[in-house]
Amino acid sequence: MKIFLNKTELSSYLEEFKSKGDSIGFVPTMGALHEGHLSLVKKGLEDNNLVVVSIFVNPTQFDNGEDLIKYPRTLDADVRALESVSKTKIVVYAPAVEDIYGNNVTSQAFSFDGLEHEMEGAFRKGHFDGVGTIVKRLFEIVKPEYAYFGEKDFQQLQIIKKLTELYNLPVKVVGCPIHRADDGLAMSSRNTRLTTEHRAAAPFIFKTLQTAKIKFGTESAKVVTEWVEKAFKEEPLLDLEYFIIADTMTLKPVKRKSTQKTYRAFIAAYAGDIRLIDNIALN
Ligand code: PAF
Repeated sequence: MKIFLNKTELSSYLEEFKSKGDSIGFVPTMGALHEGHLSLVKKGLEDNNLVVVSIFVNPTQFDNGEDLIKYPRTLDADVRALESVSKTKIVVYAPAVEDIYGNNVTSQAFSFDGLEHEMEGAFRKGHFDGVGTIVKRLFEIVKPEYAYFGEKDFQQLQIIKKLTELYNLPVKVVGCPIHRADDGLAMSSRNTRLTTEHRAAAPFIFKTLQTAKIKFGTESAKVVTEWVEKAFKEEPLLDLEYFIIADTMTLKPVKRKSTQKTYRAFIAAYAGDIRLIDNIALN
């Protein structure tokens, strides 16, 4: 498998590839790859002749220095996992921080029509400026036809769609379903850092979302939210940061339900010092 550490070499390889008329799919990641990432890569291979996977732990999207330091870095295992999917139709771009940022490790300030102020944006200051900066830069380097993102980070997916719209970036952003373990826990690179006890408790997040979905059929968002907050108080191993039922398009919390709109429920919760997020479509 080809592994590029340098954007200039990657770009010239991809230019040659594109000159033959072949299409390029792109899966940006921060590594520690799991089945969820591989499902994005497989979808990319169905739609394109080549899939570029970037593996880069982006410093500007972390609001917590400790989280950045502890973020798993497993390049060898990631390459092996990708090779199990294809040795010839996937290339890896695994740059050092300087290749992306030079000596100016800062993010651009973005406005994503307010999407950036909700949920993750409210709890992780500057997070979406960091995500916008890196994804825009990676799109400019890779110039893919299609880029694939998981719905686990649903707010990120909506923001990246907005980014491409605001900057007229010629890439189609494809959202892919959340990949779950057998017990329902949404796959995340952070799951590897859970203690055995916290791992056993974590499926409670998805179970609660499923019950919230059923309740939302007959109850108001306020009643459902109160029920979820109470349920979490009775689960000592998980600490709820937020539960929000939001409009799928604006991501603003729902005040009054409308049959014309679609909604999603979002959870962020701590299992020890590991922050987990998940969400579910409600209607
Ligand atoms: O979802 C992620 O892993 C990251 O936010 C992304 C899109 C790779 C940008 O660093």
